[in-house]
Amino acid sequence: MRRSSLFTAVTAFIAFQKVETVYPINDLAVTPAMGWNNWNAFDCSVNEHLLLSTAEKMAAMGLRDAGYEYIVLDDCWSIGRDKKGNLRHDPEKFPHGMKYVAEKLHSLGFRFGMYSDAGTYTCARYVGSLGYEKQDAQTFASWDVDYLKYDNCYNEGLSGTPKITSERYRTMTEALKATGRPILYAICNWGEDYPWKWGHTVANSWRMSGDIYDSFDRPDPRCPCTGDEYDCPLPGSHCSAMNILNKAASISHTSIPGAWNDLDMLEVGNGGMDDEEYKTHFSMWAALKSPLLMGNDVNIMDAKALSILNNPAVLAVSQDPVGAPAVRRWRYFVNDTDEFDQGEIQMWAGPLFGGDQLVILLNAGNNSRTMTATLVDVFRVATGIPKEIKEDWDIYDLWANRMDDATAQSVIDGSTTGEDGANVARFYYNATKTSYKEGLAANDPLLLGKLTGTVEAGGAIETEVPRHGVAMLRLRKRSANISSETLLAIQHA
Ligand SMILES: *[C@@H]1O[C@H](CO)[C@@H](O)[C@H](O)[C@H]1NC(C)=O
Ligand SMILES: *[C@@H]1O[C@H](CO)[C@@H](O)[C@H](O)[C@H]1NC(C)=O
Ligand SMILES: *[C@@H]1O[C@H](CO)[C@@H](O)[C@H](O)[C@H]1NC(C)=O
Ligand SMILES: *[C@@H]1O[C@H](CO)[C@@H](O)[C@H](O)[C@H]1NC(C)=O
Repeated sequence: MRRSSLFTAVTAFIAFQKVETVYPINDLAVTPAMGWNNWNAFDCSVNEHLLLSTAEKMAAMGLRDAGYEYIVLDDCWSIGRDKKGNLRHDPEKFPHGMKYVAEKLHSLGFRFGMYSDAGTYTCARYVGSLGYEKQDAQTFASWDVDYLKYDNCYNEGLSGTPKITSERYRTMTEALKATGRPILYAICNWGEDYPWKWGHTVANSWRMSGDIYDSFDRPDPRCPCTGDEYDCPLPGSHCSAMNILNKAASISHTSIPGAWNDLDMLEVGNGGMDDEEYKTHFSMWAALKSPLLMGNDVNIMDAKALSILNNPAVLAVSQDPVGAPAVRRWRYFVNDTDEFDQGEIQMWAGPLFGGDQLVILLNAGNNSRTMTATLVDVFRVATGIPKEIKEDWDIYDLWANRMDDATAQSVIDGSTTGEDGANVARFYYNATKTSYKEGLAANDPLLLGKLTGTVEAGGAIETEVPRHGVAMLRLRKRSANISSETLLAIQHA
């Protein structure tokens, strides 16, 4: 009941912008934010050159136009406050100041993300914003900042209940609003005090777990909870992708357009997972509508990382206009565990634009296996038989048209044509030119993946899923009319 009333409120908000509502807090992040953040690959080693050269490379590789628009600076950029209490950037790291960085990023077609902390110090012990919210928000606005990541270290004990924590974070919500500049507000309190219950009234996204690390499923003592907890009292750090995913399973449905559960920044390309594991990590983050902030060093981007990050059919799920996060339909434990994991398989599903349905079969067991999803489970409703199971559905595989390694490498090397001379643009979706919403409405074949089969009314989808991999599928009603042109393009892709 709670969920459907929430949904009704948000749908009304989108359909009739004039309807008054207390959330979302602004009109930003209508789809989950996409961009890049330096922390996972560079930690405190930040400077002007890193941000600007990363932006230039991302634009050259087509990633800006795929939608990765926010370049987010993390911790370690300041040297304290001046006599008036204004935050000061580190002049060695940022010789031209922050407004210059913002101007350069804007001229390159990006937006600029800043970092601070709802405590007296940041996590790396630079000065924090607690007690200085108004002043710091004005400073960020004066620097033309477009996004604020707001951390939770050294919070002076102002946590422990949703009220205390949400009020501490809301002080910055109000301060940002008072600047008059649209600033996406991404809070980072590691899931403490149930931010999925109050985050909509405070921020555009909220971290729901301790920090990610670059491992698919390896437990680490610094990440205290196993992943099955709804309330993890000690969020910690070094949480694996599967640990975070399992924590998200009970709350993924609380995300709504403008206010999203944040599963933390991506590790794709950082080297700690294999290709199937990175595909799984990326697929699940897109399906649950987490913000998608690349966390790798683009100077050493490899072909496989690029062809994951720019897969238009998966990005179209992340940026789907319905904004409904996938939910977990089932989970079973299996015997083929690796040295770390508990050995499990899962099925996730959720609605997509145009009456389509997303289905993900996730195999976190240690062997590849055949997996099955029945239409009854895919469309399961609280009571009765879902009406959708009476339809026949076409199955589109969202990974089948992934860019090949040679083409991806030629993009990385700066060529605009692939090894076979074909224009790489045919692998790319240009969201700068045509939004994902318009592209989906026009049945752009890049966004649909590859038509690989059908499932008949009342039937089941059966597919082979590799070890630590996913099958990520879009179901579309067979009776739905798509133009013969589009159909041809899909079949020849
Ligand atoms: C898993 O292993 C246990 C103990 O060896 C066995 O009883 C059970 O049948 C196995 N389950 C499956 C699904 O193979
Ligand atoms: C899990 O699979 C990997 C890769 O196939 C293999 O190297 C490893 O030995 C397996 N671990 C176990 C415990 O079976
Ligand atoms: C995407 O479209 C925009 C606007 O038409 C254009 O300026 C840009 O060059 C295109 N990007 C790519 C990678 O082709
Ligand atoms: C599909 O198109 C045909 C021919 O234009 C039309 O007769 C039919 O009603 C359409 N079906 C649907 C489901 O829109």
